[in-house]
Amino acid sequence: MDSFSTLLRTASHEQHVEAENSTFMSDLLGGRLDLEAYARYTEQLWFVYAALETGADRLAADPVAGPFVRPELFRLSALERDLAHLRGTGWRAGLRALPATEAYAARVRECREQWPAGYIAHHYTRYLGDLSGGQIIRDRAERTWGFERRGDGVRFYTFEEVANPAAFKREYRELLDGVRADDLEKQRIVAECKRAFALNTAVFRALGEEFPLTA
Ligand code: HEM
Repeated sequence: MDSFSTLLRTASHEQHVEAENSTFMSDLLGGRLDLEAYARYTEQLWFVYAALETGADRLAADPVAGPFVRPELFRLSALERDLAHLRGTGWRAGLRALPATEAYAARVRECREQWPAGYIAHHYTRYLGDLSGGQIIRDRAERTWGFERRGDGVRFYTFEEVANPAAFKREYRELLDGVRADDLEKQRIVAECKRAFALNTAVFRALGEEFPLTA
């Protein structure tokens, strides 16, 4: 039987391709979006990471989700520095969640509070993605909008406390493979991972509608 980490990757593969090829992501990677669109996207991420990280320390003692709660991954303060750079010191006043973002954040909060194993699905979908494809997005953002390499504007993608991302990802997959869940619960985590990808794609769709290139 495939390991759980392989199962998660395989199960989400199709939706990963869909997310990568969403209009908003391909416009971003193609360098076709303006800075406003990038700032608006970064704001949406703030809501998602606030949901993932606020009170996550309470999960640290949980036997299932606890091993995944790693402060070196936390992105919220990096996002806040990026937003201060993108929007100025008053960034918080202009922060608005799109309805799709609100739905995503609400589901993450629900898992964080009530279903630690489900939280793992959201954790995996975001942090492993940020350590992987996120680096491609960072490179593109630096080149498109001229941010300092790994500096303000792209700190979200810069994991200063993860010295060796490849090794970190290997260890992370080992954590997944050792997750304390039975087969049925693992199936539920896989389903939640697919839901997490769908929630991401819905945010991209909403952003794509807000920033159509032909407008
Ligand atoms: C244009 C956008 C994207 C690009 C170019 C991209 C690219 C990649 C690449 C190249 C990998 C493989 C890295 C490796 O094997 O070490 C990867 C992995 C991953 N990506 Fe993405 N990605 C994008 C968007 C996303 C999005 C939107 C999500 C979810 C929110 C996501 C979630 C993941 C996850 C969870 C993995 C880890 C897969 C695993 O090994 O288990 N990616 N991505």
